Amino acid sequence: MEKIVSLCKRRGFIFQGSEIYGGLAGTWDYGPLGVMLRDNILREWWKMFVTDREDMYGINASILMNEKVWEASGHTGAGFSDPITECTKCHHRFRADHLSDATTCPDCGGALGEVRNFNLMFETKVGAEGTIKSYLRPETAQGIFVNFKNVVDTMSPKIPFGIAQVGKAFRNEIAPRDFLFRVREFEQMEIEYFVKEGEWEQQFEAWREYIWKWFDRLGLSRENIREFEVPENDLAHYSKRTTDFEYNYPGKGFDELSGFAYRTDHDLKSHQEASGASLEYIEPDGTRFIPHVLEPSFGLGRAITAVFSEAYTEDEMSGDVRTYLKLPVHLAPYRVAVSPLLKNKPELVERAREVFLMLKKEFGNIAWDDNGNIGKRYRRQDEIGTPYCVVIDFDTLGETPALLDTVTIRDRDTGEQTRVAISELVAALR
Ligand code: GAP
Repeated sequence: MEKIVSLCKRRGFIFQGSEIYGGLAGTWDYGPLGVMLRDNILREWWKMFVTDREDMYGINASILMNEKVWEASGHTGAGFSDPITECTKCHHRFRADHLSDATTCPDCGGALGEVRNFNLMFETKVGAEGTIKSYLRPETAQGIFVNFKNVVDTMSPKIPFGIAQVGKAFRNEIAPRDFLFRVREFEQMEIEYFVKEGEWEQQFEAWREYIWKWFDRLGLSRENIREFEVPENDLAHYSKRTTDFEYNYPGKGFDELSGFAYRTDHDLKSHQEASGASLEYIEPDGTRFIPHVLEPSFGLGRAITAVFSEAYTEDEMSGDVRTYLKLPVHLAPYRVAVSPLLKNKPELVERAREVFLMLKKEFGNIAWDDNGNIGKRYRRQDEIGTPYCVVIDFDTLGETPALLDTVTIRDRDTGEQTRVAISELVAALR
C-alpha cells in the first residue's frame, strides 16, 4: 500500500489534502491523473447503473439539507455514532471498538477513559445570523429519499424502480486511516431501489449478481472479493439485512469495499411521519403503499484503492525492475501516448503532432510525451497505466521505404511492439 500511495503522489494521481500546510487528516486531493481515473470510474458507474437500464433515474441533491432530515433518518441519534475513548495521559483519542485492549492507550500505555458515543456528522450553521443548524450530509442516500415524491410525481415510474445519485459525503471519523479507505470527506455512488415488500428477497438476489458485474467492470478479480453477511447485532440502525462486499487490500486483507442493504420502509416512513408529506406510491389500480428499499452503496475512494491494488504490478523488463499499472483500457487516464523518437528533429515532431491530433480527435484522452529518452517515456507511461505508446521514428518518414507512413505501437503489459500503417492506426487501436 505504501508503494501505491507513493506512486499516486509521484505521478499526480492523489495528494494529501492541504499538503503545504502540513495536511488535514482524513482529506485527500485528486491531481490531474487522479481526476481522469475518477471521472472514468464515475462515468462507467453511471452508465452501468443508470443509462444502461430502463428502471433507473438520476438526481443530484444538495449537500446541505434541512436538519429535520437527519432527525427523521435517525442520524442525529446514537445509531450514527462510534464509541470513543481518550487517553488520560497523552489525550489521544481512539475508536474503542477498534482496540484489542480497551483499557490501555496503544500510544503511551496510559489508562483510557470511559467510552462515550461520538456522533460522526459535521455540524454547520446556515445564514448570516447563524441560527439555522444543518449538517454536511453523511450519506447521499437521504437526498434521494427526500426527493422520492418529486421523482414519482414528475417521472411516473413503474415499481420496481431506482433513483441514483453520486456525490460528496462527510463523516467526522475518529481515526481516518489507510489512504482513501477511511476518510472524512469522500464520494459515494448510491442507489435506492424501491420495491413492493413481498419482492425484496427476489430483487436482493438480482442486485447481488449485478453488483458482481460492476466489480468485473473495475477489473477486480473475483478471488479478491468476498461477500460478508453482516450479523444482526452489527446492522446499521435502518437495515434488516446487509451484505458487504469486501476486497482483499494489500497489507490489510479483506475489508469493506461497498455495502448492500435492505432498508425496509424505514426511511420513507420516517420522512412521511416527520414531514407530513405523503410518500406513498399509488398503483394504477389505486392501491397505495410505502415502498421498501434496497440500497447498493459504493464508495469511490475504496473503489479507486481496489483498482490500484489490483493494477499495481512489478516485473522485470530488459534486465530492470519496472512498475506498471495494469489498468483496464476504459479506466486508464490516457489510452495512448504519442511520441516522436527524438524531440530535436522537427520533421519527426511535425509528423508525430499530426498523428497525436488525429488520435486525440478520435479518442480524446491521448497524451503527448516527448520528455527524456524513449525508454524513460515507456517507464513513465507504464507507471500511469497507459495501455499503448505510439512512436513516430525515421522509418515513418521513409528511411526504410517499405515502412513509410507506419508507426510502432507498444503494448504496456508485454512491451511488444508492432508496426501499423498510420491509415490503419485508429482501427488497430480501437
Ligand atoms: N447509505 C448507506 C451508507 O452510507 P455505509 O456502509 O456507511 O452505508 C457506504 O457507506 C459506502 O461508503 C462504504 O461501503 C464505503 O465504500 C463508503 N464509505 C463509508 N464511509 C467511508 C469513509 N469514512 N471513508 C471512505 N469511504 C467510506
